[in-house]
Amino acid sequence: MAWIEWDDSLSVGVFTIDAQHKKLFRIINDLHEAMLKRLSDLKIGEIIKELEYYSKYHFKTEESYFEELNYYDKYQHKMEHKKFIEDVKKFENDYKKGVTSLSIDVMDYLKNWLINHIKINDQKYSKTFIERGIK
Ligand code: FEO
Repeated sequence: MAWIEWDDSLSVGVFTIDAQHKKLFRIINDLHEAMLKRLSDLKIGEIIKELEYYSKYHFKTEESYFEELNYYDKYQHKMEHKKFIEDVKKFENDYKKGVTSLSIDVMDYLKNWLINHIKINDQKYSKTFIERGIK
């Protein structure tokens, strides 16, 4: 069973955003699997990098819609994104230096952050995006 599973309760009603969220779930599952299989530091490092890059790409997508629609909650939402990227980068650096390891606590953090962020922050923009024709 996958570590983190997407279901319809997590939909924001916008196809491109849901597809990006599903990809983030896939990357987090890859990381979890890499941890269980004790894959090399090199492989794990690559997945963490992918998580960082793809998160940035995804956040940029949402934030460009925030600007386009002048979304009322954009500042707060962007702060959440920024904090997540900082946390991932810090973990990436600490992992590279060998001062931290990929643990179940890290996996729990990623899973909980993403699910909570989608349910609390992302679903808040659903109505605005859908009404403004974002697909
Ligand atoms: Fe889907 Fe605000 O991240």
